[in-house]
Amino acid sequence: MNKIRVGVVGLGRLGFTHAENITSTKNASLIAVCSHSEEELKKAKEKLGVTNCFTDIKKMVETIDLDAVILVSPSNFHAEQSIYCLKKGLHVFCEKPLATTIDACKEVEKIVAENPSKVFMLGFMRRYDPSYLYAKKCIDEGKIGRPILFRGYSVDPNSAIEGALKYAAHSPGQFIDMAVHDFDLARWFLKAEPTSIYAIGGCYLHQEYKQYDDGDNVSALLKFENEAMAFIFAGRTATHGYNVETEIVGTHATLRIGSVPQKNLVEILDKEGVRKECSQSFNERFDVAFKNEIQEFIACIVEERYPEISAHDGTQASYIAEMATESFKNNILINL
Ligand SMILES: NC(=O)c1ccc[n+]([C@@H]2O[C@H](COP(=O)([O-])OP(=O)(O)OC[C@H]3O[C@@H](n4cnc5c(N)ncnc54)[C@H](O)[C@@H]3O)[C@@H](O)[C@H]2O)c1
Repeated sequence: MNKIRVGVVGLGRLGFTHAENITSTKNASLIAVCSHSEEELKKAKEKLGVTNCFTDIKKMVETIDLDAVILVSPSNFHAEQSIYCLKKGLHVFCEKPLATTIDACKEVEKIVAENPSKVFMLGFMRRYDPSYLYAKKCIDEGKIGRPILFRGYSVDPNSAIEGALKYAAHSPGQFIDMAVHDFDLARWFLKAEPTSIYAIGGCYLHQEYKQYDDGDNVSALLKFENEAMAFIFAGRTATHGYNVETEIVGTHATLRIGSVPQKNLVEILDKEGVRKECSQSFNERFDVAFKNEIQEFIACIVEERYPEISAHDGTQASYIAEMATESFKNNILINL
């Protein structure tokens, strides 16, 4: 069979990883890339051997014969680029979040529904991580009883703050950028929608976030329609590395994923004592998940089926994140 011809839009902190993963994905070929950075395009040409390089997505789509695109541009472009590509007859993989406003999310959902022959997949990669998949299987098999609490911590390393601050001007905020993963996981594991949310936080180390009405560390407490609870913490200042830990407490058992976030199974015994190292970036921690989700996207196109995750899941996670942002900014409990 002919390989799925893929174009990647955005070659930054995550985009290059997706482009590289396409080159090793069965039934797919990396045909074109698009970035605003000449330096990134040069790197893609040299390291990935891609010769069709563009600074404008429309030029890429109109000039090159593609089957699918992977959108890894800044979040505020996701909706318009998804809609444009779907209308051009392309399958679309879009990084999270689906969009930065709920109206835009709903517009994407509408265009996805109007193009049923096209695969649309959203990049909530934690759903494709082997440990998260295993936890989900345990829950679905009833091994923890009734899930009553989801606890999610997602903290970026402080060593990455320079890049994060550069991104801050076009970031929709910490709840939409980071906590959106945990809002998605909470819905996935608890199998319910939230009914209320209260969020707090602040600029504890990096006052720069104040000008964007954002915090460097934020948290939220949620109640769900099935009476389950969720506590979510999203930060940017972990000194030890990239800290993603998740807990699901059930009536009969508790599951913990990465409760001591670690790079691998090696223990180091040295003058510091006995310790385990921590992953330093999302690319490192979720390396397998990023590969799995891209393989699933291509498999869905080839096998003419839809991924489990839908555009509506993207809208719901973005809606919760938007309400968390509102609660944080106005210090109010929000009934959803
Ligand atoms: N799943 C995850 O854990 C995860 C991790 C990181 C980033 N992301 C998401 O990926 C997206 C990109 O994040 P990043 O950290 O790689 O950003 P980045 O700033 O490092 O890179 C952005 C890239 O997009 C390009 N770009 C900017 N405007 C563009 C436009 N209008 N059209 C085409 N290309 C454009 C830039 O040239 C650059 O190559 C964001 O939406 C972010 O939420 C997801």
